[in-house]
Amino acid sequence: MLKKRIVFATENEGKMKEIRKILEDPKVELLSLREAGIHADIVEDGETFEENAAIKAREIAKLTDAIVLADDSGLEVDYLHQEPGVHSARYMGYDTSYRVKNQHILDLLKGVPEEQRTARFVCAIAAALPEGQVLLVRETIEGMIGYEERGEGGFGYDPIFYLPEYGCSTAELSLEKKNELSHRGKALRRMKEKLEEYMG
Ligand code: IMP
Repeated sequence: MLKKRIVFATENEGKMKEIRKILEDPKVELLSLREAGIHADIVEDGETFEENAAIKAREIAKLTDAIVLADDSGLEVDYLHQEPGVHSARYMGYDTSYRVKNQHILDLLKGVPEEQRTARFVCAIAAALPEGQVLLVRETIEGMIGYEERGEGGFGYDPIFYLPEYGCSTAELSLEKKNELSHRGKALRRMKEKLEEYMG
């Protein structure tokens, strides 16, 4: 069987493991940038998650004949006018620890009542196809900013992202449960459906 080559534009092996679990398919050879031998420094200067994912996918697609997937994700806090948003990774500086970033957000929301603490994680995924077309999906998980850091799992802003209906933060979910509910898990599954339609 001739396998379709798909490159996922990430150098993060942890993310790649998640992605593999969801996109795994006997018809597909899925490669990270490292595995595809591609190195590129891309400036993600779009104003939306979709723009950034599309920029990344298009730029990498110039370097390979494979289908290229790229994602962009982040946290939108409504009380902070959807910040940190597309700046989530570089918020307060790339090298600032998430302990500090999370505490800062908790401080900014000190005294803010529950109904104004709404927030969401967003994930956009773009697929640049060899013919030049770009497929896009965007998914979210809705929650709220908690009152303290909770949980040891996950990464980034997970300890302050509280899911009222589960009574815990996303840092307290098992990996399987987080994948089932998360912005990234949902976006990956939708992109998988779109790619299956495209590949026939
Ligand atoms: P990127 O999409 O890899 O550029 O990641 C953007 C940033 O958004 C990450 O560095 C985290 O700060 C934040 N982020 C995205 N998804 C999650 C998540 O599932 N949990 C916690 N933080 C996240």
